[in-house]
Amino acid sequence: MKSPHLILAKELWEKHVQKDDLVIDATCGNGHDTLFLAKLPLRQLIAIDLQKEAIEATRAALEKELSPKEQRRVLLKHQSHQSFEKIEAQLIVYNLGYLPKGNKAITTKVETTLQSVHAATQILAPNGALSITCYPGHEEGAKEKTAILQWATNLPSDQWSVCHHEWVNRPSSPSLFWIVYQP
Ligand SMILES: C[S@@+](CC[C@H](N)C(=O)[O-])C[C@H]1O[C@@H](n2cnc3c(N)ncnc32)[C@H](O)[C@@H]1O
Repeated sequence: MKSPHLILAKELWEKHVQKDDLVIDATCGNGHDTLFLAKLPLRQLIAIDLQKEAIEATRAALEKELSPKEQRRVLLKHQSHQSFEKIEAQLIVYNLGYLPKGNKAITTKVETTLQSVHAATQILAPNGALSITCYPGHEEGAKEKTAILQWATNLPSDQWSVCHHEWVNRPSSPSLFWIVYQP
């Protein structure tokens, strides 16, 4: 089966995003997810990555595939996702890990990822969602999945609805957290 966690994530994003929404791709990498999100009818998309190489790859993908009008809705930010400006977002997407075909040493890490998802909870609009894809098949990814699972399990259930999708007979397969703020 071809990346079923991504198929599921994209279905969730597609159903969730509305035309006035602000969406953040917190790990834009090579721009595949950014491009998918940019084609949804949203107001603004902010795409963030720590690596200049990733920002340039995303820029190139957007320029190739999107009209100038669609491109103007996307803001690329070369920075760490540990903190966000004070804005209200309806969807924040994480695809954790390292840049495919890039330097595997530059990967998302437990400490900064936890800081970031916490910061994300502070700017989510009511009914806004966090989509977090974890890759436990590599060492840091396994630590991240464990840490995210522990963090998400402890979000107050009267405000947060937390769903974790994983392949139970394939422990190192990617898994997806879908976390909705329902105050
Ligand atoms: C698995 S890749 C993302 C793939 C991407 N969503 C796509 O569609 O191509 C993970 C990305 O997270 C980025 N990253 C790692 N640490 C980060 C941080 N602290 N802040 C922002 N981006 C980070 C890496 O540079 C890498 O490009």
